[in-house]
Amino acid sequence: MDRIRIVGGNKLNGVIPISGAKNAALPLMIASLLTDDTLTLENVPHLADVEQLIRILGNHGADISVNGRRERQGESYARTIHFTCRNIVDTTAPYELVSKMRASFWVIGPLLAREGKARVSLPGGCAIGTRPVDLFIEGLKALSANIEIDGGYVNATAPAGGLIGARYTFPKVSVGATHVLMMAATLANGTTVLGNAAREPEVVDLANCLNAMGAKITGQGTSTITIEGVRSLSGARHRVLPDRIETGTYAMAVAMTGGDVILEDTDMALLDTALEAIRRAGAEITETNSGIRIVRNGAGIKPVDIVTDPFPGFPTDLQAQFMGLMTMAKGTSHITETIFENRFMHVQELARLGAKISLSGQTAKIEGVSRLKGAPVMATDLRASVSLVIAGLAAEGETMVSRVYHLDRGFERLEEKLTRCGAHVERVSD
Ligand code: UD1
Repeated sequence: MDRIRIVGGNKLNGVIPISGAKNAALPLMIASLLTDDTLTLENVPHLADVEQLIRILGNHGADISVNGRRERQGESYARTIHFTCRNIVDTTAPYELVSKMRASFWVIGPLLAREGKARVSLPGGCAIGTRPVDLFIEGLKALSANIEIDGGYVNATAPAGGLIGARYTFPKVSVGATHVLMMAATLANGTTVLGNAAREPEVVDLANCLNAMGAKITGQGTSTITIEGVRSLSGARHRVLPDRIETGTYAMAVAMTGGDVILEDTDMALLDTALEAIRRAGAEITETNSGIRIVRNGAGIKPVDIVTDPFPGFPTDLQAQFMGLMTMAKGTSHITETIFENRFMHVQELARLGAKISLSGQTAKIEGVSRLKGAPVMATDLRASVSLVIAGLAAEGETMVSRVYHLDRGFERLEEKLTRCGAHVERVSD
């Protein structure tokens, strides 16, 4: 199993290209199941989760080619991928596939809308919390789907004439349930109004792509989304928006090590709240023609309290990385996690590098230390693992991060991007 070896202490200087967003690419790829025409996606990151979803979509009947060629492992990055699903050959998403990646549960929306039935495995538990699917089920029921849970599978069927548009207000904001209900409603009879919908940029990106495919969606980016059902959707060409989590992660890495880096092909508006927190921590952030420049020279890191919240609040997917940054702040900070109940797996690992963190319920208290010291640490989930990389970049000596397959799920060419900016990071294969 691969590990990442980091020798800390170097400042970061240079340019880091930001990839297309994993969390937009996944629902966009799933949307290809809604049409028998070709959906072409540009700027798709080359990540383990994307490869896994390619396998899942292939299982449902999608024909997938990368840059015009058949898909092969190890292709180039920032790819253009064509998805054509002339016929759905299988409406079952089996446990073996869904259990590997939670977002694959989302195929339930398009399968149900297009074929009138879907049998999708429950995704099961996850390191960051229980993550139930009740909101998906209640929402699809509101569109008149009949849903039964049996033997670990969700069996969903639509009425004979298809799903029926309805008003549904989510009791809690959910990105995934918003994606799924929006996709399902595009082909429903009549109009659907989703209240308390997620406002994340990835939801807006999906809505824009669905509209390019012929859907009639308005209100995306606000908490009320209206979807007027249409008879069918066509193909489209769509560019995946920049990854705001990758952007914020590298911005925090620069704030941590010091230096001067331009994050290219990204957009400040995608992560205002997080950038504001990084600014308050002492980094200078400015907009450039192609993205964002982040500089921290001289001044130390200041303590900043944050609370995670749905967009436009501070993203839970940057919480671990910000904690990494706060471990070396000059003073005490507090980080409160409100989205997932168990998203503090990184605390024990950061402590191995010398961080002083105590937990009380959903809040972590971080007492900044003047130095971290490299150590062997273990990646526990995607975002937690990159917080260890950030801390390792600033720690003295060697940090060895094991179980890096978590990183490969969400960070494209991480070692290469950091190395080009002067970091000492390498992948070690055992
Ligand atoms: C997405 C992102 C993930 C991010 C999360 C929150 C993708 C592929 N993943 O995950 O990186 O951390 O948004 O921004 O885009 N919930 C329920 N019932 C449900 C569904 C969700 O109680 O049926 C709860 C979850 O347990 C969690 C909260 O709602 O506590 C938010 O989860 P949700 O927004 O659905 O996260 P995901 O879409 O899975």
